[in-house]
Amino acid sequence: MMRRDRIILGSCLLLCFAMGVALERYLPRAFFSYFGASTGDFFRSPLAHWRVHQRGWGSFDTLQFTQDDGGVYFRRYAETALLPLIIDGKRLSDSYPVPKMGGAIVAVGSTVIILDRLGGFYRYDLKTRSFGLLPGIPQLPNNLAGYLAHRPGGPVNLGEAPNDEVRARSIILLAERNELAVAYDKFDETLGKTRTVVSVISFDVTTLTASGAWQQIFASDGFAYGQGATAGGGILAYRGDGKLCLSLGDHYTVDPKISEDPNSTFGKIIEIDLATKEWHEISKGHRNPEGLTFRKSGQLVSTEHGPQGGDTLNVIEEGSDYGWPNVTPGTAYNRYDWNVGTSLVGSHTGYKAPLFAWVPSIAPTQLIEISNFHPRWDGDLLVGTLKAESLYRLRLEADRVLYAERIWIGQRIRDLTQTNDGTIVLWTDDTELLFITVDTDQLEVRRRTPDILSEALENGNCLGCHHFGPTNPTDFAPSLSGLLNRPIASDAFAYSPALRAKQKLGNWTPALLSEFLSDPFKFASGTTMLPLKLKPEDIPDIVATLVQASAPSAPTPSPAPSPAPSPAPSPAPSPSPKPSH
Ligand code: HEC
Repeated sequence: MMRRDRIILGSCLLLCFAMGVALERYLPRAFFSYFGASTGDFFRSPLAHWRVHQRGWGSFDTLQFTQDDGGVYFRRYAETALLPLIIDGKRLSDSYPVPKMGGAIVAVGSTVIILDRLGGFYRYDLKTRSFGLLPGIPQLPNNLAGYLAHRPGGPVNLGEAPNDEVRARSIILLAERNELAVAYDKFDETLGKTRTVVSVISFDVTTLTASGAWQQIFASDGFAYGQGATAGGGILAYRGDGKLCLSLGDHYTVDPKISEDPNSTFGKIIEIDLATKEWHEISKGHRNPEGLTFRKSGQLVSTEHGPQGGDTLNVIEEGSDYGWPNVTPGTAYNRYDWNVGTSLVGSHTGYKAPLFAWVPSIAPTQLIEISNFHPRWDGDLLVGTLKAESLYRLRLEADRVLYAERIWIGQRIRDLTQTNDGTIVLWTDDTELLFITVDTDQLEVRRRTPDILSEALENGNCLGCHHFGPTNPTDFAPSLSGLLNRPIASDAFAYSPALRAKQKLGNWTPALLSEFLSDPFKFASGTTMLPLKLKPEDIPDIVATLVQASAPSAPTPSPAPSPAPSPAPSPAPSPSPKPSH
């Protein structure tokens, strides 16, 4: 090599190194974490970079078939605007190796039937509180084997298949017909593509046994490998009288022709006649409708994932066009504009407007109209979400949404239903079943916190903002439990910089609490805690109550639900294993 070449090569290497360091330093970390590893890692050690990707593959493996070794029945509590809730939970992957991230559930009497993402069937009996297999039901004909062997991306082992390609999407009971109906993705080898299909099977609701074979009654157009199987909709709702409705997504095809084209099944909500197997389009212009249900009144409603900031709740009317991708309440990801439509960004002019939209987006999944749960909630809509890890309870009045209450769950909720006794059941991406009932004992007490905490604090209106459970993203103030055992401003709460700066003073003490409550601004100039104008003689009482709530034997009022393993420092409000209600 000539000396000049060596200098050029050397300079190139040096420049690459400098660029790596600069990129690492000046681009936000999140930018890199999206790709799984930082370029900085690559420049420091190409080998380590390679290993990061190896690990990435491995995680598909664990998501395909996971067997966890927990098996503990757990219970949490949740506060809501109108009702205190008990949330019991049990995880399927503690009993069986199951693919995570997908699947669906249906309640048959007091049994929940689970369809996992790749087509396995299980049952959970609320009476015996145990999981079991659903014997006698034939394998879901999704051609998983054909997909693994012949998929256009090249053959893979089961553990390596991308987790969104052959996905079971919805299961419902057609009660009057004694049939189960399932919507799922099926690989079509001759086409080299995947279709969303609907099949039905005879099902005895008393013995919970299937008979005969699966009968396919509908198949969508094929979508190519990698063509956004996640934006596939695929949710079933039964109108009665042999009429079955199905939502179909656009598979991320930002092409007005797809969702508007009467000859394409994509981006539509359709109705299938079970007798003739003929189908017709009900509505068009949809992106990814992952929720579909009939209300008691017969009204068909649907939730839909929009692009950034455009998730919607739609009332589905025959012949209507919901506008995707010409209009959306949101924008393109990471953009300020929406470059497909012609109208003003964010306007829905010319198309059927949603009944409600979530801005920012929450990733809504299935929705139900609550019935037989509690008179305070019956008739409301309940929506599951992935991104927001919450339920949304929507109160409707006449033809509008009066309010949407976010109830934080801390899990990605894929599907939800109700059993015959009114219990609300959630199915999460971690394969948990969560059973929600009203905490009637607590409701009877009529107070959210025990009396000994209530009196002094009610005088100062502390509980207008604060609570005593673990703090979650829907709380507007930190927890007041265990204050003496924790540093100032150390709860899982977005504190003001002013109070955070006081962390250096260490744990709260009775003296510091008096000082803070007497004049929050003087204690931490710029705090968002109000100057409460408390009477000086009330402060010792309040402080004494807070000290009492820090003691190991403190009463533990209505703790909010805590996420299973939480990485965030939790205020650990309840040293006693059994909550007071
Ligand atoms: C209007 C809402 C509101 C009311 C009413 C209120 N607080 Fe607060 N409180 C807050 C907020 C918000 C913060 C966090 C302040 C910050 O980040 O600067 C806070 C912080 C605190 C902290 C510090 C907690 C920690 O984690 O370090 C204590 C202690 C506290 N409040 C006690 C009380 C007491 C006692 C009362 C009643 C006498 C009360 N607050 C009434 C909103 C309120």
